[in-house]
Amino acid sequence: EKIVVGVDIGGTTIKVGICSMEGALLHTYEGATEVEKGSDAVCANIADYAKLIVEQSPFTWEQVEGVGIGIAGFLDIPNGIVKKSVNLYFDNVPLKSILEEKLGKKVLVNNDANVAALGEAWAGAGRGISDCVCYTLGTGVGGGVIINGKIVEGFAGMAGELGHIPIVPDLEAIQCGCGKMGCLETVSSATGIIRMAKDAVERGDRTSLSFVENIMAKDVVDAAKAGDEVAARIVARAAHYLGKSMATVSVVLNPQRFIIGGGVSKAGEFLFEQIREAFKKAAPEMAQEGVEIVPAILGNDAGVVGAAGLIIRA
Ligand code: BGC
Ligand code: NA
Ligand code: ZN
Repeated sequence: EKIVVGVDIGGTTIKVGICSMEGALLHTYEGATEVEKGSDAVCANIADYAKLIVEQSPFTWEQVEGVGIGIAGFLDIPNGIVKKSVNLYFDNVPLKSILEEKLGKKVLVNNDANVAALGEAWAGAGRGISDCVCYTLGTGVGGGVIINGKIVEGFAGMAGELGHIPIVPDLEAIQCGCGKMGCLETVSSATGIIRMAKDAVERGDRTSLSFVENIMAKDVVDAAKAGDEVAARIVARAAHYLGKSMATVSVVLNPQRFIIGGGVSKAGEFLFEQIREAFKKAAPEMAQEGVEIVPAILGNDAGVVGAAGLIIRA
């Protein structure tokens, strides 16, 4: 009996999972990402956790068919090289070859949000349809495009970087971690929402957020739900640009479903209604027909399941 190890690398934790060849998640383990020690340490973390989870399971290392990895950042997917990962401080790290050497197994590397999209398409909110586009709203805004059941990677691996769609008008744009101005991520990520809230407090806007010690995205959403106008405007802005970006994606790819996950998506219908409204306002009627905007359902597991899927479906 063969098994696959899926790895989801985040800025603070690395999640590993053992999946059956049918994609059932059998075991999971989470360890720290030692980002501050550099990319060599993080590569060692990945190898250690992958070996550990198999050791602690009823399976043996011989049964491992391969290891699939999802990681945030701009990737050269065909070669498994992390060109640039701002949150992990990775700069041209040949992750695939490093781990193949450490693990002695086939390793496939893909973008974290691409992999989460594959997980959702396969076993989550995109089950049974062939074309869907996923957004993950967390520290950054991740994107994953699934067409005909496959991840769209582009010729060099940069496709699906939806967080870097330039969408905020020049006069209101701020610089993104990628170096460019007005990316979706600057307004619709948790980081963007927190920044807008802090700006409002500093400006002296009248808001309940000025009494919050260390503002998190959830505080802004909660305040907005409770009727705080400043907070409501911030959430509305995040939702507006998300919906508008979906209108752009719709006229390019016409996916059947937009699936939204990540911490910020926990805001629920309050957020989704506003995203749908912005999408409706911006997309041509014909590009809206039959299109749905729905929450992700695999939650934190989408990454490991999708990462395992890289190997299983290869
Ligand atoms: C990165 C993406 C990543 C996303 C979510 C963005 O800033 O450019 O590669 O998928 O954050 O982690
Ligand atoms: Na992506
Ligand atoms: Zn950007």
